[in-house]
Amino acid sequence: MERTYVMVKPDGVQRGLVGEVIGRIERRGLKIMALRMNTISPDSAKKHYAEHAQKPFFNSLVSFITSGPSVSMVVEGKNAISVMRAINGATNPVNAATGSIRGDLALDTGRNIVHASDSLESAKREISIHFKDAEITGYSRVDEAWLYE
Ligand code: RTP
Ligand code: MG
Repeated sequence: MERTYVMVKPDGVQRGLVGEVIGRIERRGLKIMALRMNTISPDSAKKHYAEHAQKPFFNSLVSFITSGPSVSMVVEGKNAISVMRAINGATNPVNAATGSIRGDLALDTGRNIVHASDSLESAKREISIHFKDAEITGYSRVDEAWLYE
């Protein structure tokens, strides 16, 4: 089982899409292991997006992601990292497949509703930025026997 970090960004919260995003994650069979709404601190945002520190959009990205409440989650399941990236769709919503969150609900790269970790290494790093170990709940879902062979 893999774990990944997922965020409903401030635009997703403002547009009333928290339930829509969580519903898609749950219906796919992925398990929510931790969940919180808060306004990310500038410090956490800079750590989270450290790989983009030299990019021209870094400052606007950090100020956007800290501009209001977002929803943070730890999501677990078989191949959770790649499955979650596919649920979100391509970074630029113009290129995102219909059926993905960005392909169905977004139009602009800077307002693309969701984040999900892009590798095992990123997932570990991002989960540790946003959650303490004690906040991540281990439990079984009753449908697991019907989700996995
Ligand atoms: P994310 O990290 O948010 O899940 O998105 P991603 O992996 O699909 O894309 P990434 O390359 O990591 O970019 C992070 C976020 O930065 C904003 N961005 N703006 N103006 C631009 O050219 C540009 N490029 C990226 C997007 O909000 C993107 O989700
Ligand atoms: Mg990324």
